[in-house]
Amino acid sequence: MKSLLICALFIGMFAAFAYAGNDYSWGIITDKDVLISNSTVRTVSRPFIRTAKKLVFKQKLKDPYTIVAIKVTDKKIIGGATVTILSGGVGSQNVTLLFKSERGKSINDQVEIYGR
Ligand SMILES: *[C@@H]1O[C@H](CO)[C@@H](O)[C@H](O)[C@H]1NC(C)=O
Ligand SMILES: *[C@@H]1O[C@H](CO)[C@@H](O)[C@H](O)[C@H]1NC(C)=O
Repeated sequence: MKSLLICALFIGMFAAFAYAGNDYSWGIITDKDVLISNSTVRTVSRPFIRTAKKLVFKQKLKDPYTIVAIKVTDKKIIGGATVTILSGGVGSQNVTLLFKSERGKSINDQVEIYGR
């Protein structure tokens, strides 16, 4: 009985790890690359509906970086947002990301963009 309980506890822990966060990443970060943007995308949850937010990254530099990687870390434990690239991205100098929450859930994502 006791071992069964411990077993169930372990399965619960694995499930928690497996579902922890809804992270995304595009591209590969090397030690030559620099962090060119680090921002948080947040919304407040609203009953029954999905919330959405766009993140537009543009550069006004004379010699802009080329995006090599985008890393989205979900700060929520469950019910993380889905993320899609609407335009640009790796290989481009800009990117527009669309974040969509689950119904009745908020968004809380950390977005790191690396360039070269
Ligand atoms: C980006 O910002 C977050 C929150 O301030 C921080 O925890 C994280 O370490 C930063 N990322 C990098 C690569 O510095
Ligand atoms: C995004 O970057 C590309 C080049 O990588 C450029 O052609 C395009 O005009 C840019 N779009 C915006 C909205 O800045």
